[in-house]
Amino acid sequence: MVVFKIVRVETTPIDGQKPGTSGLRKKVKVFIQPHYLENFVQSTFNALTTEKVGGTTLVVSGDGRYYSKEAIQIIIKMAAANGVRRVWVGQNGLLSTPAVSAVIRDRVGVDGSRASGAFILTASHNPGGPHEDFGIKYNMENGGPAPEGITDKIYENTKTIKEYFIAEDLPDVDIATTGVTSFGGPEGQFDVEVFDSASDYVKLMKSIFDFELIRKLISSPKFTFCYDALHGVAGAYANRIFVEELGAQESSLLNCTPKEDFGGGHPDPNLTYAKELVARMGLGKSNPQDEVPEFGAAADGDADRNMILGKRFFVTPSDSVAIIAANAVQAIPYFSAGLKGVARSMPTSAALDVVAKHLNLKFFEVPTGWKFFGNLMDAGLCSVCGEESFGTGSDHIREKDGIWAVLAWLSILAHKNKENFGGEKLVTVEDIVHQHWTTYGRHYYTRYDYENVDAGAAKVLMAYLVKLQSSLSEVNEIVKGARSDVAKVVDADEFEYKDPVDGSISKHQGIRYLFEDGSRLVFRLSGTGSEGATIRLYIEQYEKDPSKTGRDSQEALGPLVEVALKLSKMQEFTGRSAPTVIT
Ligand code: G6P
Ligand code: ZN
Repeated sequence: MVVFKIVRVETTPIDGQKPGTSGLRKKVKVFIQPHYLENFVQSTFNALTTEKVGGTTLVVSGDGRYYSKEAIQIIIKMAAANGVRRVWVGQNGLLSTPAVSAVIRDRVGVDGSRASGAFILTASHNPGGPHEDFGIKYNMENGGPAPEGITDKIYENTKTIKEYFIAEDLPDVDIATTGVTSFGGPEGQFDVEVFDSASDYVKLMKSIFDFELIRKLISSPKFTFCYDALHGVAGAYANRIFVEELGAQESSLLNCTPKEDFGGGHPDPNLTYAKELVARMGLGKSNPQDEVPEFGAAADGDADRNMILGKRFFVTPSDSVAIIAANAVQAIPYFSAGLKGVARSMPTSAALDVVAKHLNLKFFEVPTGWKFFGNLMDAGLCSVCGEESFGTGSDHIREKDGIWAVLAWLSILAHKNKENFGGEKLVTVEDIVHQHWTTYGRHYYTRYDYENVDAGAAKVLMAYLVKLQSSLSEVNEIVKGARSDVAKVVDADEFEYKDPVDGSISKHQGIRYLFEDGSRLVFRLSGTGSEGATIRLYIEQYEKDPSKTGRDSQEALGPLVEVALKLSKMQEFTGRSAPTVIT
């Protein structure tokens, strides 16, 4: 057995290591600076305290982006030096974010051990490669992201750090081959276990969904399917689940080989970045004669996000979670005993609220960021939740789950078609959405993103909007001046949340303008960018009349968009005449 020594390395604080909505994300060139990663990792160990680190099992893996392999070796050496008993690594360093959550919660190691936390190496939907982003975040024992109490402590530690510990002479571990490698340290044995990235996750999915029924749908001659992993880590699961388990054809998979740079693309599953899938599904400029699959879906880099498409049809994420919640009990065995409650993030449309009301379910509106759902789930208050930012999930883990969302939709399709797999025409994604609108009404919804805006200008714009709220009469003058056909603003505020479980308060979570007819405008600064600022503008309008739910959403929302741009003086403050991305 190789024996290692613990080395104490002197270091000094490095600016800007404050974790954002979902961990620390920076350009690779920032991460590879001497001590950069090490300072953050040691600050995390210190924040967790020695008794939560010593003797434990730590998961280290991620979406496989550029610099992951080097980072994994560094973290293994630091874990050894900080008294961690064993490190678990997904083969080739790959584990999707939802799979990490599942591994922490459910996996039992070859020696009967269980994990107590994880470093997830990902910058999610941000591009990867030597000139793009890298990221790291810590997840806790419940499988969810570290709460603010811990991330604040980590940040404080990064500002005072003087030293870190590393087993410099520990040889690099072969993470391409499964198995256990043992080392001897001053405090005893240290193991690295490399395991198959997909098995635990596949097992969990099979315990939630009726794979037999989905298999029947997929083998139905009328059903066609397409899944795009955008060269992210979802590719490591797609073949196992969709092809091997569910019998889809290999040609149904697009971009399913994980790549360090995501093939040069932007691994974000939306109508702008998932170009190939969007074209294949007949959205955008396509020939109406083209053969188009019945169902399409995509994932982001670390496979926690999802986009759901029907034939020439886009399902907004806000509708998606509402439709899953409305059908879960009938279509998904895991929920057959009923839903404990449902939740959405504040900027997500109120489609879920209407379902919760109809079904008499507990309902929560939380700030943006998955960690807020985790608390509700740990307290048994929430089964299904979702966000407008293409995140959907349930209490099976404590992260959003891209493949779960696809399986949920396949389950609903299978359930609706179960008497009719061989029939002339299947119930389609579009039929399901239209049925939903007829029952519950439709929330027209769109999001405008202004990416990489000057950070100072973005702050000024937000401050202006906060100030404007104090005078509703001034607000309504601007609204009327912009469009006389838009309802009055009756309320405006900055969203603040008191966690019903731990009582913690989160302030400044976005600015809301609420209209008399239920329409909403929300302005928020993104917490996940790595450069400059991204302003997000969320626009929503409720339509109850079933004869008016079939309009084009950009057209239906046109007047409200106009109002939003005038109200915020978007062009004046940012110099932008158009958003970078519209979803
Ligand atoms: C991550 C989090 C999500 C959150 C999203 C918001 O994906 O996991 O829970 O909705 O970031 O991103 P933003 O850029 O809007 O802060
Ligand atoms: Zn992600």
